[in-house]
Amino acid sequence: MTALTLSTTAAPGLEADAIVVGVAKDSGSQSGDLVVAPGAEAVVEAYDGKLADVLGTLGASGAEGEVTKLPAPSGFKAPLVLAVGLGPRPEKDSGYDAEALRRAAGAAARALAGTEKAGFALPVADAAAAAAVGEGALLGAYSFDAYKENGKDAGARNGKAPLGEAVLLGGASDDKAFKAAVERATALSEELNRARDLINIPPNDLNPAAFAAVAEEAAKEHGLKVQVLDEKALAEGGYGGILGVGSGSASAPRLVKLSYTSPKAKKHLALVGKGITYDSGGISLKPAGHNETMKCDMSGAAAVFAAVVAAARLGLEINVTGWLALAENMPSGSATRPGDVLRMYSGKTVEVLNTDAEGRLVLADALWAASQENPDAIIDVATLTGAMVLALGSRTFGIMANDDAFRSAIHEAAEEVGEEAWPMPLPEHLRKGMDSPTADLANMGERMGGGLVAGLFLREFVGEGITWAHLDIAGPAFNEGAPFGYTPKGGTGSAVRTLVRLAELATAGDLA
Ligand code: BES
Ligand code: MN
Ligand code: ZN
Repeated sequence: MTALTLSTTAAPGLEADAIVVGVAKDSGSQSGDLVVAPGAEAVVEAYDGKLADVLGTLGASGAEGEVTKLPAPSGFKAPLVLAVGLGPRPEKDSGYDAEALRRAAGAAARALAGTEKAGFALPVADAAAAAAVGEGALLGAYSFDAYKENGKDAGARNGKAPLGEAVLLGGASDDKAFKAAVERATALSEELNRARDLINIPPNDLNPAAFAAVAEEAAKEHGLKVQVLDEKALAEGGYGGILGVGSGSASAPRLVKLSYTSPKAKKHLALVGKGITYDSGGISLKPAGHNETMKCDMSGAAAVFAAVVAAARLGLEINVTGWLALAENMPSGSATRPGDVLRMYSGKTVEVLNTDAEGRLVLADALWAASQENPDAIIDVATLTGAMVLALGSRTFGIMANDDAFRSAIHEAAEEVGEEAWPMPLPEHLRKGMDSPTADLANMGERMGGGLVAGLFLREFVGEGITWAHLDIAGPAFNEGAPFGYTPKGGTGSAVRTLVRLAELATAGDLA
């Protein structure tokens, strides 16, 4: 894992492999002139004030994420200067927004894979900007190469090792706020990267029991309470949804409860994650072309897990309980059939019309279990529907809720941390599509608005009077395209930062 440090050393004197500077498009001028962003004054000076011209000569445009490398000026201890595009220059030099900094730092860190140490001379006028640059660097440096090692030496790897250390230059390292910002960015990014690892681990190595073991290990390390219900305990408890989804698999399901409690807590937030370690569709088997990335179907549980551990590491003054609903959805002679009726943990019966609508079944049991503790709010996170991807694309998650203010608060928190999200409705008229002639309801309804139908299904399993929201992260959870900003290929860690921000806000009593 990349280390994040603060230094007051001026850029020329830093012993490092590279110095990162920011370059922006000066929209004020027609010719699309470049400006070097604040924080790199010493670098600009060493190029006789001509760094922007030099970059222009090299073809730099200042476009977001663009990377231009050039030899460092004489007198620099680092051999390389790396200019990263910040996009359009803001009106004020102090106005670079956090997400622009995060993305630029991420792109730079990724481009520096294979090096040991880099100084970041980006605009870090205050602690919030330092946090953004730090977060971007740590998240952008991430790579998943656990399965690429053919030998013990890194040279045998297909990829390069991630940047070893990111040094933030220009921030006052003795300043309490800067130190706190670096600590928060480190804890948050490490846990988010751990969620990415869990998503990227192939499904033959991460089954429900293996995921539960990872949670138990983390609980020990961070002083959390953990309870794992195995298939026997699930049967005794009547968790028909989780058992029904897991019944086709050779790897039995689990329900993990991970609790962080603070002695100063005034609020209790429950987080529920969909943890399908592989979604083949079950008897309603997915066709080829739709199953290759379905190891990502536990991204909700990975996000919840990371958020609970991050809350503990940050010592937030709130109680956070994470519920991981873990199962593998497979076809076999013991699998749930389309037409089967499951008796859920809440007592309601569900006719399974399509075994590929499995996420809502495991979540239903976990939502009801979470409801029994009467938390101040419940948020579930799930790669739930292809319909949400069709609606919002691959970078935006949908937010549904039984409370308008809560949905707005989540949307605002997402925006604040740089996650793209959008509010979605729960239209009442879609509920009757799930009426079943045999059971209390069916696990499918109208095809149109499929993401909202899934949300309405989940709502049936939230305890009376409890504030609840549902995040459908099916789009942004897994990046099948090229890396961008601080987002790698594969598991992204979608929703982790929003959940942690919400826990922080709830501490101050601003939520629910
Ligand atoms: N895990 C999938 C949803 C999904 C799709 C996640 C694409 C990530 C990317 C989910 O279990 C599923 O199969 N949903 C079905 C529901 C349908 C059968 C009602 C879908 O969206 O097609
Ligand atoms: Mn499915
Ligand atoms: Zn699924």
